[in-house]
Amino acid sequence: MLEMNHVSFHYKDGKNILENIDLQIEQGEVVSIIGNNGEGKSTLARIMAGILKPTEGNVTIDGINAYEKKHFKSIRKKVGIVFQNPENQILFNSVYDDMAFALNNLALTDQENRIKDALKKVGMEAYEKENPFQLSLGQKQRINIASVLAVNPKYMILDEPTTMIDANGKQKIYSIMRNLKKEKQTIIFVTNHMNEILLSNRIIILKNKKIDHIIKREELFEKLEELEKLHIQLPDMIQFVKLLQQGGVHINLQEYTLEALSKIIIGKIKNNN
Ligand SMILES: Nc1ncnc2c1ncn2[C@@H]1O[C@H](COP(=O)(O)OP(=O)(O)O)[C@@H](O)[C@H]1O
Ligand SMILES: [Mg+2]
Repeated sequence: MLEMNHVSFHYKDGKNILENIDLQIEQGEVVSIIGNNGEGKSTLARIMAGILKPTEGNVTIDGINAYEKKHFKSIRKKVGIVFQNPENQILFNSVYDDMAFALNNLALTDQENRIKDALKKVGMEAYEKENPFQLSLGQKQRINIASVLAVNPKYMILDEPTTMIDANGKQKIYSIMRNLKKEKQTIIFVTNHMNEILLSNRIIILKNKKIDHIIKREELFEKLEELEKLHIQLPDMIQFVKLLQQGGVHINLQEYTLEALSKIIIGKIKNNN
């Protein structure tokens, strides 16, 4: 379990960014963290990843204190993070070397298989020998995701991974995330994109330095107004399901994709005929 107890944080200027955050994330969960710009989402993500030390309170990963020097490597193996800007994470001019860097730092063996498997998961297996600096932003981000996957961390944090990526690239990343979810990968999404929120079991809303709300996926349709108040753009699909439900058509969506929704509607129409 990833656990935050009474976490507060300020940067050097002393202004509190986060106050008294308590949060527990179980293995296998997919959790979204949403909030407007400047609410402290990236700060929170870095604290969870053990990169920033909370000013007060503590963070433990499977019971291990995330900030003690002696635990540095074990925390890095347990928690991986992908940042918003894909350019910031690439260091070497071959995809393989770039991915091997973290594996070397953590003294992880079986590097070739780890790299090949991770590239396959992000659909980039043909790019092992390419220069990552010459790839598109979406492809770079998929390499960053693969670099994290190669370490095989129990907890994966993604800080607005699709914000800078074009529509086509976003779809590819969503599809990777859906597959990872099926494989029971624990994912913590920092996001404002509804498609990512829809993958989550829980949605954590950050506001005024605190956790303002936690919405479970089952409650999503009851709490749409709260999301709208936060200026979260609800996809047409969600509005559509809401309208159907208001009209007395019960839709129990397990997977928030057009394919899943169509299947349910087709089933209902066929049953009526
Ligand atoms: N390195 C830093 N030093 C000082 N202030 C920072 C630093 N990074 C972020 N901040 C400030 O902390 C607040 C929260 O930032 P951030 O965590 O990036 O929010 P979000 O990801 O929700 O947009 C903002 O007011 C931002 O200006
Ligand atoms: Mg941010």
